[in-house]
Amino acid sequence: MIKSKLFFISLPSFLIFISWFFLAPTAAHPSGKQSGISAQRAAEYIHAVIKADRTIYSQYIVERLGETVSLKATEQWKNENTLPLPAQFLMVSSKIVNSKNLGIKYRLMSLWPINKNNAARSNQQRAGLKKVAKNPGQPHLWSVKKNGKILFNAVYPDLAVTKSCVHCHNNHPRSPKKDFKRGEVMGGIHISFPISKANNGSSLKDYRVAPEVVADYVHAILEADRTVYAKHIVNRLQKKNIIYASENWWEENTLLLPAQFLLNASDLIKNMRIGLDYKLISLWPINPHNGAANQFEHLGLEAVASKPFRPYIGSVQVGNKSFFRAVYPDFAVTPACVTCHNAHPKSPKHDFKLYDVIGGIVVSLPMDSD
Ligand code: HEC
Ligand code: HEC
Repeated sequence: MIKSKLFFISLPSFLIFISWFFLAPTAAHPSGKQSGISAQRAAEYIHAVIKADRTIYSQYIVERLGETVSLKATEQWKNENTLPLPAQFLMVSSKIVNSKNLGIKYRLMSLWPINKNNAARSNQQRAGLKKVAKNPGQPHLWSVKKNGKILFNAVYPDLAVTKSCVHCHNNHPRSPKKDFKRGEVMGGIHISFPISKANNGSSLKDYRVAPEVVADYVHAILEADRTVYAKHIVNRLQKKNIIYASENWWEENTLLLPAQFLLNASDLIKNMRIGLDYKLISLWPINPHNGAANQFEHLGLEAVASKPFRPYIGSVQVGNKSFFRAVYPDFAVTPACVTCHNAHPKSPKHDFKLYDVIGGIVVSLPMDSD
């Protein structure tokens, strides 16, 4: 407790910090550092979340359940009581994010698309796909002016992370390429969002995004993937008695709990060591480990439980590094959330209702100075 208090800066300096930050998001830092997170870093965080959720879904759901209980992923998943294809999972989720008008947009595309709508839509996108196919270690970055706004663009490679990616594409009648191999680049993820330029410099590196905006982007993707998983996979397949979600999903050949889906993806991101971190907490945790870990998280959970419109934000100093943190409300978006939490013997609360705030998602971003 004492230790964590030391890390939190005092309220007055916190308010000054916040007002300086958000009132003048494009101003240069007096010490020469720049405010906000570099656009390149922001794209890296956004891509990390998309990729981690895509990997968990492809490996722990599609590949594992295909092998253990012959639960297939098919294009007509709604009618056939199967799993959505990994590409469809991403599309449903990106539609939710794009419709929020936060500024961020993303989409899956390829030089060899099964669906022609997934081809590149501009020369820049095509050039990006070619570049990441040749050199998957680096994203392709550019900026464009559109309707008076500058948009930052990035294409990241999309890799054949499981055998099933390769098998299904190589055998698909509409696939123009039949010799994909595991680990190869199959396409790319295009990400774009609006940016403002820092006042000294004109290269792509000088574009910054306010930290609360980056946290909103990261959270929007997390929330959309979480909703798609809970609604279209767990709730739908449980209702049809096809498969259910359980804590011992590995041993029982079942679906991961929605919380486990999020935490496994968060672990993948931690292992990437890019600084982004997120977790699930609650005032009424089933697992005591998911209670508020400090005063900031406690205040954040109370704030989003009573006013679930905006996140509770703040900053912390850990050693010589500063982090931006935001707590977002976590809603019971589907009946499965409510029934499972209310019935769980370890749950301290048994009267959740649909769309109640069950807890919070904490997003933590390092404030870089590059
Ligand atoms: C069971 C079949 C199946 C599996 C498994 C599968 N895909 Fe696909 N994939 C498709 C189909 C079908 C589409 C087209 C979906 C649409 O209509 O937009 C698609 C779309 C895509 C696209 C967009 C370009 C295109 O081809 O339309 C990419 C990139 C892609 N998949 C990569 C992957 C990767 C990587 C994996 C493994 C993580 C994977 N796919 C797993 C069938 C599959
Ligand atoms: C089948 C049961 C089940 C379903 C469905 C389920 N949860 Fe949970 N949830 C759990 C369990 C068990 C944990 C504790 C996991 C752990 O050990 O970390 C948990 C953890 C959580 C936590 C972290 C705090 C805590 O209670 O430990 C939140 C917040 C949460 N769930 C919200 C949701 C929401 C929102 C949904 C629907 C989108 C949902 N849950 C669906 C069983 C479930």
